[in-house]
Amino acid sequence: MKIQLSKMETKFLLNKTSIQIVEKKIDLFGNFIHHNNISSIFIIVDSNSKKYCLKDFISINSSLANSKVIEINPGEASKSLQVLNQICLQLVNLQIDRNSLIINLGGGVVSDVGGFVASVIKRGVKFINIPTTLMAQIDASIGGKVALNINKYKNQVGLFNDPDKVIIYPDYLKTLPPEDILFAQAEVFKYGLISSQLFWNKITSKKFSITSSLKLIISDCIRMKVDIVNQDYYDYSERRKLNFGHSISHAIESLFFNEFDPISHGLALSAGIICETYISQIRFGFSDSKLYTIVNTLLNHFPYIFIDSKYDVQILDFIHGDKKKSNSSLNFTLIKDIGSAVVNCSVSNEEILSSLEFYRKCRI
Ligand code: GLY
Repeated sequence: MKIQLSKMETKFLLNKTSIQIVEKKIDLFGNFIHHNNISSIFIIVDSNSKKYCLKDFISINSSLANSKVIEINPGEASKSLQVLNQICLQLVNLQIDRNSLIINLGGGVVSDVGGFVASVIKRGVKFINIPTTLMAQIDASIGGKVALNINKYKNQVGLFNDPDKVIIYPDYLKTLPPEDILFAQAEVFKYGLISSQLFWNKITSKKFSITSSLKLIISDCIRMKVDIVNQDYYDYSERRKLNFGHSISHAIESLFFNEFDPISHGLALSAGIICETYISQIRFGFSDSKLYTIVNTLLNHFPYIFIDSKYDVQILDFIHGDKKKSNSSLNFTLIKDIGSAVVNCSVSNEEILSSLEFYRKCRI
């Protein structure tokens, strides 16, 4: 994959979706609303994006000022059929029609729930994602996957449906607590591990600081995601590279959500990447020094999550309930080197258990 380390791209095309990184709050809505004969606008927010971004956002275009706002609670618990039902009821009461537009202003939960709603209400209305977290700007808002959780299992009902636009205002990241940027870096590391040694070298170099390079990093990550998704939109092969670290991290997230307090996706992903790098080394035999370069990079950036071995069986249960299960063998994405992912690797329970044991030994 070609990574240009100095030039920042600001426009991308993924199927019908135009993705734009916009440094100033320029109006990208007026023409869209006019050309598509939009009858009414609904903005879905959570309490954070409502508090920190909504007022600023609706000042961009006068049509947005007349929109109706629907608020959900932040966090995974909102990715449910109950919340879908509540939002659809509100939209029907507010007389949504097929020419309405839904704008999802928020993080990954908002774009998942709002994208799902937009895909089914009135058999589908246009929607635009305005991601306001780093995780959503580099991953969740892009690629057309929308999904809800079923009970304790993540992303069990979903569909592929592209937003009409994704507009990224990096300035909204200034409204976030610092740990939000920190934890989203797990996804940035993942892009390096699956796609580009050059990108990995850049983001792990001593001189690198995520906060001073944010816009370039967003642009690089979007380019890698768009390249991958354009090759395999429906997620049968190439796109599965994006799952690296996620089979185990989703299970860790579900464990914390059900047994303790929820932890962020990025924090769980840092542990998932360590475990799945360990399994990758067993499978592909790269050097110990490479294994520990990756592991130490992650341990130096993210807090360690203690997971008692008594929860290992529960983690396996979550992984077996995960959507990436295929014909009863567990289907993982692994890496054979930094920058080189291999999809559809069959992984055993024993390998997962030994990776959790390895992670426990990483505790400093
Ligand atoms: N976030 C993984 C994907 O879009 O396929």
